[in-house]
Amino acid sequence: MKFDRSMEIYKKALDVIPMGTSTFSKNPNLFVIGASPLYIQSAKGCMLYDVDGNEFIDYSMALGPIILGYANAEVNKAAKKGIDEGLVYTVSSPEESMLAERLIEIIPCAEMVRFCKNGSDVCEGAIRLARNYTQKLKIMTVGGYHGFHDWFIVSTPRNKGVPKVMAEWILPHDYNDIDAIEKTISAQSNEIAALIMEPVINYEPKPGFLERIRELTEKNNIVLIYDEMKTGFRLHIGGAQKYLNVVPDLAVYAKGLSNGFPLSALAGKKHLMKQFEDESCFFSGSYATEKASLNAALKTLEILERDKVIEQNWKMGDILKRGVRKIINKHNLHEFVNIVGFPPMTHFVMVDYKGFTVNEIRSFVQQECVKRGVLFVGYHHICFAHRKKHIDRTLKVYDEVMSMLKQSLDDGSLRDKIEGKPISAFSVRSN
Ligand SMILES: Cc1ncc(COP(=O)(O)O)c(C=O)c1O
Repeated sequence: MKFDRSMEIYKKALDVIPMGTSTFSKNPNLFVIGASPLYIQSAKGCMLYDVDGNEFIDYSMALGPIILGYANAEVNKAAKKGIDEGLVYTVSSPEESMLAERLIEIIPCAEMVRFCKNGSDVCEGAIRLARNYTQKLKIMTVGGYHGFHDWFIVSTPRNKGVPKVMAEWILPHDYNDIDAIEKTISAQSNEIAALIMEPVINYEPKPGFLERIRELTEKNNIVLIYDEMKTGFRLHIGGAQKYLNVVPDLAVYAKGLSNGFPLSALAGKKHLMKQFEDESCFFSGSYATEKASLNAALKTLEILERDKVIEQNWKMGDILKRGVRKIINKHNLHEFVNIVGFPPMTHFVMVDYKGFTVNEIRSFVQQECVKRGVLFVGYHHICFAHRKKHIDRTLKVYDEVMSMLKQSLDDGSLRDKIEGKPISAFSVRSN
């Protein structure tokens, strides 16, 4: 398999775009450079077609947004109608409130909604609401990722250029570590404005974990914010809060909402959301009311329900997860490979093994999967276009590759077999 055109574009891109791309998780350092595709020409359903004429089954689905499949004809038609009608106007369009009404019907915590373009935008908006409402400053996080804005990124190793003083106001915790969360709340509740978390990150929540956080935040005047960028419309049409039956005060959405069109939503209780009616509590975006994306979201939500998409995604995800478990057993990989998460969004957990780093192991797996037509990224976002034939083909590829992996680790040859520059970056997300 050749990647000449990808490499040619990459070399030129490095001169004009820092890192070669504007989206961190599409960063070529997350791929085996020279042995995996770096640029895609087009996509349809669950298939990617790269600039060298190779094709792959995809499971990233553009980092999550593609829930129906790439280039869904009905969604595209709705979006094109929005474009032909002028796209974005001097004042808003009726579709903005139509979509807000729809979200209020399906999301338990949603009594009012505001739209924007990125996940980072709506996370920032939710934090602002919480701080203004409680008149407190500190924010608790529970693993995960909440975008590139200062308030959050200061707590990560990627915080150059962010005033260090902001680190005083953020209190990071690990997912599923209720003891640490309880301790922080009991010591600092007078200073904590919000607890923001992804309700599910990779792992499933421990029994009672989300319920206890809800209890503690309610008792201590802490605004509970669910970042449902990934779980929204994926675990359930009403998000993880509906599926797991724990209702936050605010929730933020993007990704699955509009099948890839740029749109995010901040939804929540009226007493919080209404603060935006005071012009001095500010949240705004020039393109927030852009109609191609509003139309795409309305159509996506319609299809999700009409075609029972989420049930189908659970079913396919379940077949895939069970299949991967079998392969892990068959090749005796337990010590360094696991698959976790709810079926519509499962993750491989891999660790260093026998002197090889996790990135070397991932590089080998990615390279060999790519050769066989599966773009391995370490996780699966199941979309409606993933059908049994794609899952079966993927499992066959995983079976072959995992067998080769075990052999190459056992005989110590793994490093020598990597055919490009190994993966050198880590995901922005933490567990
Ligand atoms: C859970 C979560 N929150 C926030 C964001 C930030 O969204 P965006 O990249 O659209 O700003 C992401 C993006 O990956 C995310 O996964």
